[in-house]
Amino acid sequence: MPRIKTRVGIVGAGPAGLLLAHLLHLEGIDSVVIESRSRQYIETRLRAGLLEQGSADVMIETGVGERLQRECLRHGGVYIKFRGELKHIDFQDLVGQSVMIYAQQEVVKDLVAARLGYNEPLMFEVGNVAVDGHATGTPSISFTADGKDQAIDCDFIAGCDGFHGICRPSIPAGDIKMFDREYPFAWLGILADAKPTEEELVYAHHERGFALLTMRSPTVTRAYLQVARDEDINQWSDERIWEELALRTAGEGNPLSVGKITQKGITDMRSFACEPMQYGRLFLAGDAAHIVPPTGAKGMNLAIADVRILARALIAYYKSGRTDLLEAYSRTCLKRVWKVQRFSWWVTQLLHRNDQDNDFDLRRQIADIDYLTGSRAGRMTWAENYVGLPMEWD
Ligand code: FAD
Ligand code: DHB
Repeated sequence: MPRIKTRVGIVGAGPAGLLLAHLLHLEGIDSVVIESRSRQYIETRLRAGLLEQGSADVMIETGVGERLQRECLRHGGVYIKFRGELKHIDFQDLVGQSVMIYAQQEVVKDLVAARLGYNEPLMFEVGNVAVDGHATGTPSISFTADGKDQAIDCDFIAGCDGFHGICRPSIPAGDIKMFDREYPFAWLGILADAKPTEEELVYAHHERGFALLTMRSPTVTRAYLQVARDEDINQWSDERIWEELALRTAGEGNPLSVGKITQKGITDMRSFACEPMQYGRLFLAGDAAHIVPPTGAKGMNLAIADVRILARALIAYYKSGRTDLLEAYSRTCLKRVWKVQRFSWWVTQLLHRNDQDNDFDLRRQIADIDYLTGSRAGRMTWAENYVGLPMEWD
């Protein structure tokens, strides 16, 4: 069986795995990335769309942000709509930062192009992936490529294989603790050939449920509707989607901009975290270690924050033999993870209607949003968390 020797074996070519490989490459640390899907699949998979300033900065500072700088939409604030009122939270004024609209698949494309451009190993469509030896100090990853068995021998394994990957389940049940919360609703997401309704995102609270208006370009709208957890997408014709979006976003501001719907899908919502994020020489990063409901736009940003911390620790190990940052990896990440869990849960329960809630909860939500948008301290809380907590806090 062919065996590849490398320093870091990376399972999964999502934002986490690809960025980690890139950050290590810049410091001359070799790695091999394996991915179960095809290149075309990961480059077209429709997911998150919002980058914190810090996430965008890391792409720019490491030479993979050229297209991002050219094509992203920079937003200095966001709108919250409730009771039909449109309120603005001005990030520039409050925290002097912005967020960028730049789709996850574009981040993936840029990182794949960089990796293939400098000719480092990135293998697609691998199968039967298994990790071994991470507890004993001789880690290896076995897999099949083109129907042939292969293996990677490495110093460390980075489990960047998402929520359904194989790395987290390879940690013995007694050595890992899971924290989980499911929500009784889901998001129906659409992509449409319609210019954005407002120039920035609109998060709408409504008695009929939450709605979010976002965008991909000056001519493409992305929008989400809160729907039931077991919702059947076939019950949602294009007309019904636009009608419901119009109802939930009615009031002050521009009338809903409509157009041809080009894609639609339903995503479940959950909060999940595991502790620790490390077992021996296996390090989990991104969705492999945690999931947040999408309301706070944090999933991809948290994945990027994890691998910045992991890359820093691996670089310190290879450059100066330091092990303290590797030992602190899980502890360091989890401080941010739980703050982001808290924010994502908070905005989710604040803006969604829950069947178990009564009219008291509706009044409480409205008062909470009224405070959040009316008080500078409230707006500051949203702004500080939404643009991304500083890395110095980690
Ligand atoms: P992933 O992007 O999941 O990458 C993991 C990679 O590992 C995948 O390419 C997968 O194919 C591969 N893989 C899995 N198993 C194996 C294996 N055994 N061997 C090799 N490779 C493997 N976040 C937001 O902020 N806003 C959103 O609107 C939003 N929408 C989302 C919609 C959907 C349908 C999903 C699933 C997620 C969404 N997220 C959203 C979350 C965000 O996309 C994720 O947090 C982000 O993708 C995390 O990056 P990652 O690299 O950790 O994981
Ligand atoms: C997008 C998705 C989110 O979940 C969010 O909170 C903001 C923006 C998006 O897809 O653009």
